[in-house]
Amino acid sequence: MNAPTPLPKAELHVHIEGTLEPEMVFELARRNDIALPHSSVEQLRAKYRFSDLQSFLDIYYANMAVLRTEADFRDLAAAYLRRCAEDGVRHAEIFFDPQAHTKRGVPVRTVIEGLTGAIADSDVSAELILCFLRDESAESAEQVLRAAEPHLDRIIGVGLDSAEVGHPPSKFTEVFRRARALGLRAVAHAGEEGPPGYVTEALDLLGAERIDHGIRALEDPELVARLRRDRVPLTVCPLSNVRLGCFPGLEVHTLPRLLAEDLLVTINSDDPAYFGGHVGENFAAVQRELGVDGEQLRGLAANSFTASFLDEPRKAAYLAEVAACSVE
Ligand code: ADE
Ligand code: ZN
Repeated sequence: MNAPTPLPKAELHVHIEGTLEPEMVFELARRNDIALPHSSVEQLRAKYRFSDLQSFLDIYYANMAVLRTEADFRDLAAAYLRRCAEDGVRHAEIFFDPQAHTKRGVPVRTVIEGLTGAIADSDVSAELILCFLRDESAESAEQVLRAAEPHLDRIIGVGLDSAEVGHPPSKFTEVFRRARALGLRAVAHAGEEGPPGYVTEALDLLGAERIDHGIRALEDPELVARLRRDRVPLTVCPLSNVRLGCFPGLEVHTLPRLLAEDLLVTINSDDPAYFGGHVGENFAAVQRELGVDGEQLRGLAANSFTASFLDEPRKAAYLAEVAACSVE
């Protein structure tokens, strides 16, 4: 029997560097003549046991040392975009972390040319979102935005990621203002490990149009009411939240509460090479472990297009496809 056709969906929260599988770490290390501190793919994968966000970020940034050339970034993005078909992903808004590369001497241009080369060759529609690392300085964020300015036609927006606690959105008010003045869209990670106040700051000070994660918003009823009233999308990543210790197990994830609050929730993978699955596996896991039913899955897939930066006619076309898809 053929596998059922996956629901068409958009992925709005995936870090391209988080799609770097251990096999590719080894392949690129060989290609670039880089010595790795791991003896095998299995030994590297065995290190993927995280206690919190920082313990993951340490290995995530270390693995990026193998990404050096335009071809490396092209191959990385091409592998992700090939994988999209399996999960029904028709459109992806992909994060990248330029500061993690410029600090190693890789120019922004190399990163962007590589990623856009893969997008140009793919059937999946995709956009790039340049993320500022919140545990770096605001000046460093300004610098990377300036360096990216000649390539702004290849970038749809800016985001904010990396270690959250102690690095509030307010630190980046000015650089987000400049990015928005340049015509870029704005999103931000907030309320993953950080408090609900960071979600409020991201909305009020950064002009964030979507909140990445946002799970801790549930601690503040007024914020929940605001997110519902303003239809602010939350890009939730269930497997990531469990792997990084935000919840002790998927069975106690608050996705059902977010849905019961009628929030505009989407399901995403975050860093699929590290957290045990791509977006399709996140959909399957919430169905299996949280009892999310077929119609709710359809709603989550529809939300992914509604919350995307696609133009209205393309949104409408994808939404019609989601409505016509049979669900189990
Ligand atoms: N960078 C990659 N994955 C991230 C996450 N889950 N939170 C913050 N920054 C990240
Ligand atoms: Zn993320």
